[in-house]
Amino acid sequence: MTHCIDGEWFVGTGSLRQSSGPWQSRTLWEGREPDAELIAMAMRSARSAQQEWAALEREARIEVLRSFARVLERESEAMSQCISEETGKPLWESRTEVSAAIAKIDISIQAEQERCRQFSEGNLGLTHRPHGTMVVLGPYNFPLHLPNGHIVPALLAGNAVVFKPSEKTPATAHLTMQLWLQAGLPKGVLNLIQGGRETAQCLLDASPDGVLFTGSSLAGKAIHRHFAGRPECVLALEMGGNNALIVGSEFEPEVQLWHIIRSAFISAGQRCTCARRLIVVDTPEARALIARLLETVPKLSVGHWQQQPQPFMGPLIDQAAAQTVLTQQQKLHALGATMLTPCRVSSENAALLSPGIVDITSLSGEFDEEVFGPLLQLQWVPNIEEAVARANASDFGLAAGLLSDKESEQRYFSQHIRAGVIAINAATAGASSRLPFGGIGASGNHRPSAYYAADYSAWPQARSQGPLSSEQQPIIPEGVKV
Ligand code: NAD
Ligand code: SIN
Repeated sequence: MTHCIDGEWFVGTGSLRQSSGPWQSRTLWEGREPDAELIAMAMRSARSAQQEWAALEREARIEVLRSFARVLERESEAMSQCISEETGKPLWESRTEVSAAIAKIDISIQAEQERCRQFSEGNLGLTHRPHGTMVVLGPYNFPLHLPNGHIVPALLAGNAVVFKPSEKTPATAHLTMQLWLQAGLPKGVLNLIQGGRETAQCLLDASPDGVLFTGSSLAGKAIHRHFAGRPECVLALEMGGNNALIVGSEFEPEVQLWHIIRSAFISAGQRCTCARRLIVVDTPEARALIARLLETVPKLSVGHWQQQPQPFMGPLIDQAAAQTVLTQQQKLHALGATMLTPCRVSSENAALLSPGIVDITSLSGEFDEEVFGPLLQLQWVPNIEEAVARANASDFGLAAGLLSDKESEQRYFSQHIRAGVIAINAATAGASSRLPFGGIGASGNHRPSAYYAADYSAWPQARSQGPLSSEQQPIIPEGVKV
């Protein structure tokens, strides 16, 4: 069974989809796309369940969310294995995703309390109200944690959700839905619709009250255009980046080497916060650091999610994703990039790429694309000012980092860098759930997620209240002619 509506499972009648993960060892999930009637049913069911859900005391909703955290904790190993098998991430990494998803519940409760303050003081009051039915569209790279980053705050605020996960990770979404039902979430409050882009578009056409999206900039912009002239629909668009990591003129080489590797290659480069560009202030120390990087990167372990000892990184989500990275690498080569240690496909698996580094210092044209894989573009610059200018020379503005112990460089970077998530002497990837998470430019629409997800999950209602009408003073001052 494929789609979950009102706590019941339904098969679709559209085209057949399968998921078997990058290793293709077995079929993990199989199902048919929904037809228009099933999508309409999911929206109707959510709309009708939402009213009762929103009418519950906040504490009752919290109890269900905490119950989900307990169920997820109990099933954490099954969930980690499911994520690893479906995405190819090493097991150590999927386990961190599951832990983050469990921790998300309490963080979301705390965030809502802080961001959506309720009060009643004298004649003034403030409360927050849910929008209604939200469509959540998820990406494949964190198939549990990122959709839940929208779903949990939306449910907490009293919304219902229709969730369409990435078509590349349906098995993880199926298991997630089962766990929500086991946690006692009332029927219809969360419905699951599986499918691809056309299915997502049908959901957009079903007049949701909000669309909470994490994915590529291309898709986010298409969603934004779809709702042009419809301000009544809340859009939270968490999109991609072309993130720069700067190496300044003073640093501790061994520590910074590992920050670079983690920033560029964790999750095989499939994190939105991964560093795509390494902009290095040209010093003898930096030349030595890059030489060490070029020695170390080809030795990084790349392999199967169950391999022991565990590999640093696995394959890309599929062969098509690997081909896209190789095509982008080819494009850089044609523009004049020097192939220092290029990404190569493994003979073991066509989705498995070795980590690559190319030098783009003398590129003859523009290249401002997100490379969603393990390819790092190196660029030499004379000073920090030029480094920050190059970092900002992008339509995107998601993440950026600086590796430098020099206070003046840290200050200059913090003041001038245009990115929503910045890291100083830390990896760009591995953002905290305790902070807002979002980008500017082509990376987001100024509705950051993570700690600020509470903001887009509810709308504020301001109240002023006079005394009983029998106690009212005349409203028009004496002496004014009406
Ligand atoms: P994607 O944009 O291809 O798909 C994301 C979701 O949107 C999927 O559910 C997909 O079916 C749906 N979709 C695709 N095209 C659509 C359209 N035209 N209209 C409506 N829905 C559409 O993204 P992906 O390949 O799954 O994920 C990788 C991308 O996500 C990268 O660009 C990465 O940077 C980005 N990402 C961003 C964040 C963030 O928080 N900013 C986090 C993780 C990933
Ligand atoms: C992501 O959302 O893709 C990555 C988050 C992070 O690890 O910084």
